[in-house]
Amino acid sequence: MSTSGAAYQKCINPDCGAEFDCGQALFKCPQCGELLDIQYNWDKIEVPDSLSNFAKRWANRKDPLDFSGVWRFRELLGFCEDKYKVTIGEGQTILQQNDLVAEYVDMRPGCLYLQYEGLNPSGSFKDNGMSAAFSHAKMAGASSSACASTGNTSASVALYAHSCGLKCTVLIGSGRIAFGKLSQAMDYGAQTIQIRGDFDDCMRHVQDVCTRLGLYLLNSLNPFRLEGQKTIMYRIIEGLDWTVPDWIIVPGGNLGNSSAFGKAFYELKQLGLIKQIPRMAIINATGADTLTDLVNNKKLVWNNGKVEQKVIDDYYADLTARNFSPHTCASAIEISRPVNLKKCLRSIDICDGIVRAVTDEQICDAKAIIGRYGLGCEPASAATIAGLKDLRTEGVIAADEQVACVLTGHALKDPDVTVNYHKDKQGEFSNPPIEAPNELEEIIKLIK
Ligand code: F0G
Repeated sequence: MSTSGAAYQKCINPDCGAEFDCGQALFKCPQCGELLDIQYNWDKIEVPDSLSNFAKRWANRKDPLDFSGVWRFRELLGFCEDKYKVTIGEGQTILQQNDLVAEYVDMRPGCLYLQYEGLNPSGSFKDNGMSAAFSHAKMAGASSSACASTGNTSASVALYAHSCGLKCTVLIGSGRIAFGKLSQAMDYGAQTIQIRGDFDDCMRHVQDVCTRLGLYLLNSLNPFRLEGQKTIMYRIIEGLDWTVPDWIIVPGGNLGNSSAFGKAFYELKQLGLIKQIPRMAIINATGADTLTDLVNNKKLVWNNGKVEQKVIDDYYADLTARNFSPHTCASAIEISRPVNLKKCLRSIDICDGIVRAVTDEQICDAKAIIGRYGLGCEPASAATIAGLKDLRTEGVIAADEQVACVLTGHALKDPDVTVNYHKDKQGEFSNPPIEAPNELEEIIKLIK
């Protein structure tokens, strides 16, 4: 696939709007410091007339690009030539219709779908973004990479860096990362630096580290990562026989997914490939609810890109003054200064989106239900079902609407939260192990 002149980077700030070639590794607008977007000259790309045409690729899946759940939609993220494309088989994920979880949230049978991203090679949705971002890293000639992470980014970066020969360093907050994720970063050979601080501290430092040392940054500030994450939405559409659901529900952390999903739908609508854009609900944890507070209480909106920066600055100044550090058992989304905030506001605008926050208790209960009746997930992913339950109670989502929740990470990512919940009988759905003497008859008596 030739891409000459088909894609470029553009600053999202309407007062700036600076444009840059895709060959550059920038991550923030060099002129005004705002986020960058990937934009396409669609007339230079052979986009199929109908999304269902992508189905043909599966028959040719011996070609790794047609097998990849990211690159088989490559015309919709046509920023690089095939020779740079990196894939390790990401995106073979499942859209599972689940009536038992539907019952828990008071939805009608047939209406609830779980998009299970835990099936990716590193066990989380991050691999969708990394296949795109590492392709760009190769295109830009990078040899060393870095990221800050609550865990999954580091696991995915480590895996992809190794597979395409880049060095990588990951910055994590000390004691803030689930063990499954930490074990992956170490096992996949990343240089792992534990900072005495939280994710927001790591995120701040990694940007300076990358600038000073010329490392390729792989956090979702990187606009190419978000291009890969758009494909999660294409696969939901594929799973629904090339139709869109009424609602997408996604956990909100650094807000890369919500940003990518809104962009995906906007582009599909622009291209005439979908008739309607689904609504989106973004779910925070109450202990890390910056987005919820800013949108629902401070009434922050996209406003055609003219976001009230002062509202954000004052909010962050207050967090600093209070020495605030976010806390939730859903460590993946334990973030109080989400870097993609403005792009997320744009997605809320595109998707008529709403934002809610749920407690750790709600998250753990929902996680146990997903574990019992679904494919299992890590705590952050379960925020979607907890949020949906609240939205059903509020009457915002109707029982017969079609809802797709994005389960972002695998259950084995965070065994501690799971074991604590069940073993210490922390919730309504705890399933603790039963102590038994070392005697056959006693064991048999216990089996129901
Ligand atoms: N779910 C999981 C399992 C995650 O790992 C993350 C983010 C999110 C949800 C939030 O997604 O940032 O797109 O809003 N994890 C990052 C990391 C921050 O470093 O692994 P988002």
